[in-house]
Amino acid sequence: MNDPNGMFYFDGEYHLFYQYYPDSNVWGPMHWGHAVSTDLVHWEHLPIALYPDSLGYIFSGSAVVDWNNTSGLGQNGRPPLVAIFTYHNPDAERAGRSDFQYQGIAYSNDKGRTWTKYPGNPVVPNTQKIRDFRDPKVIWDEASQQWVMVFAAADHVKLWRSDNLTEWTHLSDFGKEWGSHGGVWECPDLFPIQVEGSNEKKWVLLLSINPGAANGGSGTQYFVGNFDGKKLELDPTFAPDVSGEKAVWLDYGRDNYAGVTWSDIPKEDGRRIFIGWMSNWDYATRVPTQKWRSSTTIPRTLTLRKTGEGYRVFSEPVKELQNLRASARRLESAELSGFLDITAQIGATSPAQMELVLDFELPAGAYPDFGVQLSNSKGEQYRVGYNAAAKQFYSDRRNTGNISFSDKFARSNHSAPRLSEEKTIRMHLFLDAASAELFADGGATVLTDIFFPGEDFHQIALYSEKGSVKLLKAEAFRLRSIWR
Ligand code: FRU
Repeated sequence: MNDPNGMFYFDGEYHLFYQYYPDSNVWGPMHWGHAVSTDLVHWEHLPIALYPDSLGYIFSGSAVVDWNNTSGLGQNGRPPLVAIFTYHNPDAERAGRSDFQYQGIAYSNDKGRTWTKYPGNPVVPNTQKIRDFRDPKVIWDEASQQWVMVFAAADHVKLWRSDNLTEWTHLSDFGKEWGSHGGVWECPDLFPIQVEGSNEKKWVLLLSINPGAANGGSGTQYFVGNFDGKKLELDPTFAPDVSGEKAVWLDYGRDNYAGVTWSDIPKEDGRRIFIGWMSNWDYATRVPTQKWRSSTTIPRTLTLRKTGEGYRVFSEPVKELQNLRASARRLESAELSGFLDITAQIGATSPAQMELVLDFELPAGAYPDFGVQLSNSKGEQYRVGYNAAAKQFYSDRRNTGNISFSDKFARSNHSAPRLSEEKTIRMHLFLDAASAELFADGGATVLTDIFFPGEDFHQIALYSEKGSVKLLKAEAFRLRSIWR
């Protein structure tokens, strides 16, 4: 599988579709796989929702609940569910044409269990003949009372509008002159969001790019601005230059790509919930796994906050994940210097499937390098930590075991700038058998990475090198499996 697609909430269920090729574990003719959840944590697999047809493979896209049946596709007074996706036509591509991607729709009147392709497809033809013309995300804009579609077109995004989800017209383009352009633009997501602790409303555009990410290969940058129903304008305080040097990244790990947010989360809830694909096109088709190839990240709540650096999107694990906590252990304050094996203290049978919340206090005038280390009897280890001298968080998977399947997998450790100036550093970690997701400083800095040890990591330690650091407290939770 690759990108998450078509996420919406309806009638008590979170729907999650994804790019899926059922016949092999490398990328191929794309379908939409489908899963549902009532709590964002436990998922039930459903049959494939969308199959390729004569118009092409089913590439990434979104889905909405058409509450007022603007499309006329509903039945018996119930709102239809409408999926909007890219058709990728392999025959047209082979024939050397440039208009082989275009947008189509499908609808469901049975809670997403079966889908019918709209007979008038494509609804957005590729008349400009742009080779990369894909990944539509649709929202209902309350202010301008219209459906707005954003999709990627090579080096920019296009905004289109509709009253009924079936007839679309072009509104404007955005992005040629902003942000990172080291690769092709993909999988945009555009949504309004309230700035935390104020009544101010801004628009956020998430934009995946491959290659050209902060730490190589695939990654997701974002923009903060204003949308007037026609044009998206960058906020004057938010100006990532076109060289990409000042691009702002959602996640500095190498394994969070093509992420987008849920549609139709109830107003009483009000969250903007995100999920990404936990891999990278640099090596996704070669990772040393057989029965599964990729997964999503954990679901995250996005918020927009005003910081010393300007508007920033923060990501935090959704609160529902707390229901997986099986046992809680707490370590009290300690001066940390060198290694502290905490495997027994935190009651970890295996550090895989753990959640850790660590609070450290930075010393004045010293610059330690500290964090968490997972290891096993083969001498393989993974480290995630903070380098005070560089003012960077980092994730180091160079010694995690099998790294030879791609020379791009573990070239170096990779880092993320710290945003906060606080003396206290919080590292909130979700560890699984083959992944680590770090949310630092309340979600200001995020690092998501996968790894493939030859044997499960069974030892967990805290470390501090180049000086000591004060551990204020540590909470450790064993997590139940989401499948049992
Ligand atoms: C991103 C992407 C999308 C495309 C899909 C195809 O990972 O390349 O742009 O729709 O994957 O599977």
